[in-house]
Amino acid sequence: MFDPRDSRVYYAACTRVCSTGLQRACPHTSDTDNTSHHAGTRRDIIRCRVMVEYAGEARMQDDIRAEAAQYYDANPTIPDDRAFYTARLPSAAASVLELGCGTGRVLLPLAAACGSIYGIDRSPAMLARCFQKLQAAGMPPTKARAELGDMTNFVLGRRFDVIIAPYRVFQLLETDPQVDGLFRCVRAHLAPGGTCILNVFHPQGGFEHVRQEWRTATEVCLWEATVDGVRLRCDERRARFDPEKHTLYPELIYRRAVGDAWIEDAVLKIPRRCYAPEAFERVIREYGFRIVQRWGGYAGERYGEGPELVVQFSG
Ligand SMILES: C[S@@+](CC[C@H](N)C(=O)[O-])C[C@H]1O[C@@H](n2cnc3c(N)ncnc32)[C@H](O)[C@@H]1O
Repeated sequence: MFDPRDSRVYYAACTRVCSTGLQRACPHTSDTDNTSHHAGTRRDIIRCRVMVEYAGEARMQDDIRAEAAQYYDANPTIPDDRAFYTARLPSAAASVLELGCGTGRVLLPLAAACGSIYGIDRSPAMLARCFQKLQAAGMPPTKARAELGDMTNFVLGRRFDVIIAPYRVFQLLETDPQVDGLFRCVRAHLAPGGTCILNVFHPQGGFEHVRQEWRTATEVCLWEATVDGVRLRCDERRARFDPEKHTLYPELIYRRAVGDAWIEDAVLKIPRRCYAPEAFERVIREYGFRIVQRWGGYAGERYGEGPELVVQFSG
């Protein structure tokens, strides 16, 4: 069982390659045995192997976001859901758990509006960015903290009023055992009367439509942005589609401009398991939860009519 509190067991074989202050934000600050620091390197990268459990078996895995993490906050296409999640807080004293908190995009603004927030994420590189922001905001750990953890298998020893997993985190669970694990952990960590909100994108037009799109355009530009004077972009290579599992396998290719050329910095290969509106509700009900409310997006869209599927449920 993955227990984020027992971090020494799970932080291992970490090699940091830093040019700036990332080493201070790295969760392995106190672990000097397995680290190496090369000052003056071009990019800030945290390479780390973390222990993950897959189908009941523990194994070491690289942080697949080690390099892609530096691009995450530049993405201008992430729907602005922060006001939405803030509005779902039952009170200013509410305790919140964020699964897959990443760089703290939602965790930080929510921290200012709730009693306390706890984030877990499997990527040390994403977490390092979150730690930097928490530190810069002077956020006390009693108010907001984030730790390494697997949302399909964790024990925090406490319960929360609200559990969230913003920006389609649920779709990263490719297998049924992973989905089982998430719902089991949600149930174990929801306070009496508490609710959980999960979100996936809405495959408008159905899977066949999505599949056709993937066949006709095999690589598309998802976004371009300029950050600190550097032009960045992300292209999606539509590598594979599994019609049985309703899962897309995009490869996100992150590039930055140097003169007229685009230099490839990182490739992030992820699963994106898709749910039709009815199927998403059905899976939540199948795990014995009661649906409280549902939305089709963050701008008042009706469920099944907007770009997102967002469902709030209780135990
Ligand atoms: C699309 S990002 C979302 C980040 C954040 N929730 C937001 O809205 O900006 C997905 C995050 O989920 C994390 N993640 C993926 N699988 C996970 C798992 N099994 N346990 C914990 N975190 C996971 C990734 O490391 C990544 O930071």
